[in-house]
Amino acid sequence: MGNVTVIGGQWGDEGKGKVIDWLANRADVVVRFQGGNNAGHTIVVGDKTYKLSLLPSGVVQGKLSVIGNGVVVDPWSLMDEIDRARSQGLEVSPDILILADNATLILPLHRDLDQAREARAGAGKIGTTGRGIGPAYEDKVGRRAIRFADLADREALETKIERLLAHHGALRLGLGLPEVTPAMVMDQILEIAPRVSPYVKPAWRILGQAIRDGRRVLFEGAQATLLDVDHGTYPYVTSSNTVAGQAAAGAGVGPQAGGYVLGIVKAYTTRVGEGPFPTELHDEVGQRLGERGHEFGTVTGRPRRCGWFDAALVRQSIMVGGIQGVVLTKLDVLDGFKTLKICTGYTLRGEPVDYLPAGLRDQAGLEPVYEEIEGWSDTTAGARSWKDLPAAAVKYVRRIEELIGAPVVLLSTSPQRDDTIMMRDPFQD
Ligand code: IMP
Repeated sequence: MGNVTVIGGQWGDEGKGKVIDWLANRADVVVRFQGGNNAGHTIVVGDKTYKLSLLPSGVVQGKLSVIGNGVVVDPWSLMDEIDRARSQGLEVSPDILILADNATLILPLHRDLDQAREARAGAGKIGTTGRGIGPAYEDKVGRRAIRFADLADREALETKIERLLAHHGALRLGLGLPEVTPAMVMDQILEIAPRVSPYVKPAWRILGQAIRDGRRVLFEGAQATLLDVDHGTYPYVTSSNTVAGQAAAGAGVGPQAGGYVLGIVKAYTTRVGEGPFPTELHDEVGQRLGERGHEFGTVTGRPRRCGWFDAALVRQSIMVGGIQGVVLTKLDVLDGFKTLKICTGYTLRGEPVDYLPAGLRDQAGLEPVYEEIEGWSDTTAGARSWKDLPAAAVKYVRRIEELIGAPVVLLSTSPQRDDTIMMRDPFQD
């Protein structure tokens, strides 16, 4: 039995939460390796709905849950989430939750900067979640970030805060934000430090031991390949690498530890925030997809943009993301359409193109090429076996497999944990 890495194959919101919860049931350890509280994973178990943002989905099942070094962590948000999870009856203690000592903190000044820049950018905004994710990663790469290990060393913390504010002071002044003093930042950190410190540990060591002991690890990706800072629709992306290759660096394990790579892909396409979206629909079909699919952001509540399935994009995600098998979600949202469309490629200035070019102008100029496929009138919601599906739905799934160049190994047919059709056990691959 190997490990499994789960990543999003489109622009996020593919239904990763449910799949990860389903897989967490079969894993011993669940690890987050990038992103932060910009993620929103919804898990429905019976009549309970858990909305997780920073906590690895393993907490729902009481599995060892690790927030890896690649994650940027807002400690106030983390503590609120722990309180919320506890109020729903989950046991979240330092016995099961580990926070990497070399992970970066998101501070209130990062959130200020994220929001002020977006407000200032007007029409040129990225459409971020406003959680300070980008500015925190900038400080990490700029080697001036505060990390959780620093919380135990007051002297080092003072120097680090000075260094951080030398950078942020000038930015805040330029953006018209009120001044922040070293004492203010120190007070903020000292207030939260005692609450988070019990969770802070060398995560790489605990994980390395777990792997040596043959425990099964699930690496839980957030956001998705097309939001990857290198491979996505830059600059309309998040500030981390979201591809499977990041699982190793963001958790502190070797590249072979990630195991089988599972990509979560919605049966149509959605995106929140700004940026190119070749198959976006501005008509009643797009509206219908949004309504039937309840397409509102988990974190921000913003309506998601909706469009037909884009096989060219997913084909690209599969290659750069290292995806070996796909989980297709929300097929039931397509129930009742007379005909469906799948984008198989594009034309750019009249020439055929079968991938997403890196340039923003080229991305904006793509015209999708569609293939029409027959819809189905029966429902696929709640189907638990392949034979419960209408023949046209099976045909749709098979055509997607052909076009994207990867097998559909799981089909999720409702938000409920058990409404899942398994073609192949990812842990067995
Ligand atoms: P940031 O990650 O808050 O900087 O936002 C950058 C872009 O990524 C924006 O378009 C967000 O809408 C998008 N984004 C970030 N996290 C998620 C997510 O979990 N699901 C979908 N989109 C996301």
